[in-house]
Amino acid sequence: MGESTIKKTGGLADVVAGDSAICTCGIAGKGLQYRGYEIHDLAKEAVFEEVAWLLLREELPRRQELEQYRQRLRALREIPAGLKTALELIPGETQPMDVLRTGCSLLGNFEPEFSAADPLRTADRLLASFSSMLLYWYHFHHSGKRISLVTDEKTLAGNFFYLLNGKKPSPDHEHCLDVSLILYAEHEFNASTFTARTITSTRSDFYSAVTGAIGALRGPLHGGANEAAMALIQQYSDTEEVEKGIREKLANKELIMGFGHRVYTISDPRSDIIKGWAKKISVGHQNQHFYPIAERIEKVMWAEKKIFPNLDFYSALVYHYCGIPTELFTPLFVISRISGWAAHIIEQRKNNKLIRPTSHYIGPEPRKYIPLAAR
Ligand code: COA
Repeated sequence: MGESTIKKTGGLADVVAGDSAICTCGIAGKGLQYRGYEIHDLAKEAVFEEVAWLLLREELPRRQELEQYRQRLRALREIPAGLKTALELIPGETQPMDVLRTGCSLLGNFEPEFSAADPLRTADRLLASFSSMLLYWYHFHHSGKRISLVTDEKTLAGNFFYLLNGKKPSPDHEHCLDVSLILYAEHEFNASTFTARTITSTRSDFYSAVTGAIGALRGPLHGGANEAAMALIQQYSDTEEVEKGIREKLANKELIMGFGHRVYTISDPRSDIIKGWAKKISVGHQNQHFYPIAERIEKVMWAEKKIFPNLDFYSALVYHYCGIPTELFTPLFVISRISGWAAHIIEQRKNNKLIRPTSHYIGPEPRKYIPLAAR
């Protein structure tokens, strides 16, 4: 390719890398929609399993389909005994995202995908079993227990809390985790989804695509931002400190985690939804003061940089108020986003073309090889 035809785009910004019928993100007049349904409507009216079905099967389920789908996911929660043994061997101090990455890859060894396999089955299996892998490993190493993965909880959110705490969550906690899972479910060609599509484009298997996506999501510029945002909020004990602290960080050119977005320029449409939940469930919590601290960080960021919170910022507070340990925040993103990744893997396979861009060469001019003895 001649140099004049190369469009230089740092980080592929503004590059349209393919067709997709799954989600609109930042398209003027459309906002954020999953298969044509507006995110505010879904967050208000739908439940997570309904949204997962929509992403994977293209239409909203009927009442009976949703009921059966929830039962089906419940039946897929148990994990193979060999996987449990392997999870026990992973050190307790491992990053939980690394546990999910390994857990996904290992499940692909125990239940490999065959060429004739139904990809929806693998998608549902991972959707149902990520919480099981994560919390089996977590309890084995942190509370010395081999927990049972069989619960009566109907919802994925309720099951997550039950496995974590050994008891039912409050209706508010279950509801706001469910909303958060809806908001995290899908977001077009973000880094992890694009990773999944790139791996899929080589005709590799489902588990390899998801394992790669988990690796991409782990970084603090992507999914890891929710844990980093919590660490930021916890640095301050009052709003006065925030004013000074954030301005100092900005003066030092530090990134403020949980702020900014590659696609959105004015706001993240998901942020206000989750912020409302953070405010609601902060009331009466021993760390209620974190909410005004977070709001002040938002205010200073807007005043100083015109940069807004993304979904990760107030999600961190919601998870904290729900009593979820910070190191499990990014794994929750996986537990939800598997629905979007899977939809993209299936879509990529339907009309596959190897993803293989070219680079703009900036290396040395041609030069003569120097034999080893002469160097
Ligand atoms: N804190 C401070 N400054 C920020 C910022 C943040 N969170 N996000 C962007 N900026 C600044 C950059 O420093 C840059 O300033 P400059 O032009 O003076 O160099 C400018 O805004 C443009 O940012 P850039 O890094 O080019 O944007 P991007 O599209 O490449 O990055 C993110 C997008 C999301 C990676 C970036 O906003 C970021 O790192 N945010 C924090 C991590 C995060 O929350 N990730 C989750 C994303 S959903």
